[in-house]
Amino acid sequence: MGGYEIIGNRDKAIAIVEIEKGENGKKIAEEIMKKHKNVKTVLKKMSERKGVIRTRSYRILSGEKNTEVVHTEYGYRLLLDPRKVYFSARESTERQRLASLVKDGEKIMLMFAGIGPIAIAIAKKHPNVEIVAIEINPAAVKYMKKNIEINKLNGRVKVVFGDVKKEVKKYSKEFDRVIMPLPHKSELFIDEALQCVKPNGWIHLYVIRGEEEIEQVAKEISKKINAKTFNIKKVLPYAPRVNKYCIDLML
Ligand SMILES: C[S@@+](CC[C@H](N)C(=O)[O-])C[C@H]1O[C@@H](n2cnc3c(N)ncnc32)[C@H](O)[C@@H]1O
Repeated sequence: MGGYEIIGNRDKAIAIVEIEKGENGKKIAEEIMKKHKNVKTVLKKMSERKGVIRTRSYRILSGEKNTEVVHTEYGYRLLLDPRKVYFSARESTERQRLASLVKDGEKIMLMFAGIGPIAIAIAKKHPNVEIVAIEINPAAVKYMKKNIEINKLNGRVKVVFGDVKKEVKKYSKEFDRVIMPLPHKSELFIDEALQCVKPNGWIHLYVIRGEEEIEQVAKEISKKINAKTFNIKKVLPYAPRVNKYCIDLML
């Protein structure tokens, strides 16, 4: 088995598994449900993440059809259905890293906001930051709004349903920090980040790159946008010798 991820809480969770050829998926699902009594559904990954909204296809191996769950991490709750939206429980440490970089009073542009986990991690830690969160998947927008509500963060995050390319045009050089969590193509939105970030602001650009090339890639981006300094943070492994990284760029 290629490993599994559990999303949810002590009462109800889902396991997402990678089943390799020749393996008995049903049996693996039963074993997971026996080990983790809170797992009510086991989903098998049927594709890579695809399309604009970065979801994948799943098949239910065992358990309930309703795959909506409330995931808990670091004292906040996130309602979502992994069949309709992007979510990775494994990125919780990265969300906390971002939240700890933020300073009180900052204005933050969160592009590609999904169901809002980064916005919520930041808003929970900093009572007086202002966050604009843009997302194109209507299902994710619906969950983000609910998540702001269930975490009692009403009025703290401005949710914008739309395309970053279009929506960012409404802002000019006004954000202290721009967060770009769309690793497979965030580099195509650098102009939008530059359009809305303050002259001395930060851009957090997520990329998927090989271990050998990341340093060079970061240097080139930094040079291209005239950044004063940059830092590379490995977020998660993606494939052999290929990782998801965040490049923190200070303008
Ligand atoms: C990799 S997911 C990250 C979601 C969220 N930030 C998180 O950490 O869970 C990227 C998100 O960007 C959204 N997206 C993709 N292209 C977009 C665009 N042009 N404008 C706005 N949102 C977009 C997708 O629907 C998806 O929810």
